[in-house]
Amino acid sequence: MRYLVLTFCLVAVAVAQDESLEDHMLEHFARATQVQSAVVAGDLDGVDVHAEWLAEHPSPDGLPEGWQPYVKRMRELAWEVKNTRSLTVAAGATADMAGVCGDCHRNFEVKTWLDVTTEPPAGTSLSSRMGRHQWAADRLWEGLIGPSDDAWYAGSEALAEAPLTARQVLGEDEVSADYLADRVHTLGREARKTANDQSRVRLYGQLLSTCAECHSLYRNR
Ligand code: HEC
Ligand code: HEC
Repeated sequence: MRYLVLTFCLVAVAVAQDESLEDHMLEHFARATQVQSAVVAGDLDGVDVHAEWLAEHPSPDGLPEGWQPYVKRMRELAWEVKNTRSLTVAAGATADMAGVCGDCHRNFEVKTWLDVTTEPPAGTSLSSRMGRHQWAADRLWEGLIGPSDDAWYAGSEALAEAPLTARQVLGEDEVSADYLADRVHTLGREARKTANDQSRVRLYGQLLSTCAECHSLYRNR
């Protein structure tokens, strides 16, 4: 108990001393989200740039001792994301990174605003279907980082329902991507039932790599 009180005092002091902590977190969020969308796009060069920032940027001064293991782990994962040339590895480590953000927020009882406030885009054009997929992936992402059950479930609902077949997006002769289109929805249905943090992180990594795989396929055909 005494340790807990002490930890919270230290957190409060650090927050009070460093007014830029909130900005720092917003920058974290922006950069990490750019890593996420670059993975989705299958764009390893984009992944590199933002992962490097996350790996190398200095922490604000005077962070409490108890935060260091999280910061260290986050940096290690950012390096892993940066140094790989495999989208699958990048996807997994990006999901792990969001898990670490969420662990620290939960452990120190940080309330973030990462909660659902919007509706998924409707429509049947490829662009609006994909907008719906991105909306879903973003809510799951915020569900991990928040952490927020509401965001997680909103994302999984949208994903399980977002209609998509490979033929709709890749044309009549393209059947090789059917598996990927199917996989996205299977993962969405699984996500609805996944309450455990580690399983959510794992599932999210698989999802990102499925998005990335189809986009690479499309680009390289
Ligand atoms: C070592 C602990 C720790 C880690 C790791 C961490 N955060 Fe935070 N985060 C905090 C604290 C403490 C706050 C509250 C800061 C404040 O509002 O002054 C916060 C707040 C936030 C907020 C809300 C900011 C606001 O406007 O109030 C966002 C968004 C956020 N973090 C994103 C992230 C992301 C993304 C990551 C991972 C890449 C991350 N955080 C990793 C401790 C952490
Ligand atoms: C079965 C193949 C397939 C899968 C799976 C897939 N996409 Fe796409 N996506 C496409 C194609 C094809 C395009 C259009 C080509 C392009 O813009 O590169 C596209 C484009 C996009 C765009 C740009 C949309 C625009 O026009 O503004 C986003 C964002 C996107 N996808 C997100 C996602 C996310 C997130 C996932 C995973 C949850 C996903 N996609 C899964 C095939 C797929």
